[in-house]
Amino acid sequence: MPEDILSSRRGFLVWSGTACAGLFLSGCSRSKDEGSRDAGHSRKAVLSEDILCEHGVLQRSILIMEASVRRLDAHMGLPPEALPGAVEIIQTYLEDFHQRKEEEEIFPYFEKAGKFNELIAVLRNQHQAGRRMTEIIQNLAASAIRDSEKRRKLDIAVNRFAYMYRVHTSREDTVLFPALYQVVGPREYEKIAEDCRKRQQQLLGENAFARVIEKTLKIEELLSIQDLETSTPDF
Ligand SMILES: [Fe+2]
Ligand SMILES: [Fe+2]
Repeated sequence: MPEDILSSRRGFLVWSGTACAGLFLSGCSRSKDEGSRDAGHSRKAVLSEDILCEHGVLQRSILIMEASVRRLDAHMGLPPEALPGAVEIIQTYLEDFHQRKEEEEIFPYFEKAGKFNELIAVLRNQHQAGRRMTEIIQNLAASAIRDSEKRRKLDIAVNRFAYMYRVHTSREDTVLFPALYQVVGPREYEKIAEDCRKRQQQLLGENAFARVIEKTLKIEELLSIQDLETSTPDF
């Protein structure tokens, strides 16, 4: 995958392929099962599985942002691709795909049924706030290495962004999405899953999840946070 493609949002859309589609990559590296996942493209879409994977991508992008800020605060070198790379993943894979999917394919079923209206209003509002914040983070990232005031603002922005999305996804995962079966029947649920898969295919093309994980892993390697074991406390 050429590096210049990673640096362009439009390029990402061309480069990206299908999303989660049933593959769980062991330890974040490409597994030998990946081909079978691609080959198993006709496999039934499972909405909860896709959302699980997409939220996982969000969490890993946030971890990259947090690691980048820690390096800046410690005056360690920060690879210039790290923060912009995480922002690009969030904008392209989460904001343009995952969140639009929630807003257009899933939330309306609850709204129509009059369930969780207040929660959904907050979730929609947080999507907008998140979009504004990724732009702020993107702008601050360019000059934070040299400017201590911008570094302080970046620190605050990343902290607030991370906290908001931890709360946000915790409610989606434990309150809203488990209740989807209360507002749609099994057939409708399957249709939503298929429509979401088609949306992903049209927007991102083939193998998007595998590709976004590959991109994520490359950035994690730049920051030396790719090894899961390093996050285990030694006490
Ligand atoms: Fe959301
Ligand atoms: Fe979500």
